[in-house]
Amino acid sequence: MSMRIQEKDLPSIAILGATGVVGIECLKLLAERNYPADKISLLASPRSAGKFIEYLDEKLIVEDTNQDSFNEKNVVFISAETQVSLKYAPIAVSKGSLVIDDSSAFRMNKNVPLVVPEVNPEDIFLHQGIISIPNCTTTPLVMLIYAIEKLSKVKRLVVSTYQSVSGAGKLATEELFNQSNDWLQNREISSKIFPYPIAFSLIPQVDDFEPDGYTKEEHKMINETRKILHNPEMRITSTCVRVPVPITHCESINLELSDNLDLQSIYNALDSMTGIEVLGKNNFEEYPMPFNSSGKDPVFVGRIRKDLSCENGFSMWLASDNLRKGAALNALQIMEKAFSIKY
Ligand code: A2P
Repeated sequence: MSMRIQEKDLPSIAILGATGVVGIECLKLLAERNYPADKISLLASPRSAGKFIEYLDEKLIVEDTNQDSFNEKNVVFISAETQVSLKYAPIAVSKGSLVIDDSSAFRMNKNVPLVVPEVNPEDIFLHQGIISIPNCTTTPLVMLIYAIEKLSKVKRLVVSTYQSVSGAGKLATEELFNQSNDWLQNREISSKIFPYPIAFSLIPQVDDFEPDGYTKEEHKMINETRKILHNPEMRITSTCVRVPVPITHCESINLELSDNLDLQSIYNALDSMTGIEVLGKNNFEEYPMPFNSSGKDPVFVGRIRKDLSCENGFSMWLASDNLRKGAALNALQIMEKAFSIKY
């Protein structure tokens, strides 16, 4: 029988990047769980030191990050820039903390588990101090593939993403709002975070280009998917696109299976997967969008149909809140599994 954990035994947590979009979402999720305020420390850059953030009915102070910030912290969530993870994760590990890191710094390191708890929970317990969470586009995708592969092997997968600006942080989100305002006021638009204007447009480039013409984001999706599914040979290609949406990533997915399945089997496989919710089974006009998926925990899947152009092919569409399951929720669920937390 599972036991609820005593409040005093809950791990003490530091959130590094507490003032960022993922840090704030992490606090929201902890508040939903009534996590005790005295078990949470907020860390950011010197720019934010001394600021207060409301949490339940208290105000938590944000502290500058330094060598001593991790003393007596059981868990350190990091969601800042890659350089910040590279600098502070080893320090936190040396103090005995479990680091759950949102950056790409350690994801492909063979000693670092890359985890989606619904897919590869057993990998959590192989950690040597750091566990990485996947890119916010990879997490919902591997959940979907994992569910379908219970029925039939995926022979080839083609995915195109429609990624919200919050995936690039709070300054990127501000850039979308400022550019939208400027565009509507007929003022000149300036771009600092994105390489081109994002308001009323889209950008088929997320992160820098590699010599093969793919972007780093596209490679991340491919390599991380293979690592999490323990399938280094998986045939998968991706095109990542930034769209002028504040929160929630969408993906158009086309997959070719080894076996001939009917639509109902796909519905059943996805329906029985924890963390996935299927829309549009009885009504084509019901499908997931940022509009009805943001702020929610599940990965929503819809537009599921047979691909008429090949044998054993299916096309589908998903939407997933990139700050929740794509980042903070996945990180928190890893902690909950690692420490067997039941509230
Ligand atoms: P700050 O707000 O003080 O700049 P986002 O992902 O939304 O862009 O947020 C990034 C987060 O990472 C913010 O909380 C930011 O804090 C934090 N951060 C950025 N650089 C550093 C740093 N050198 N040390 C600690 N925290 C940092």
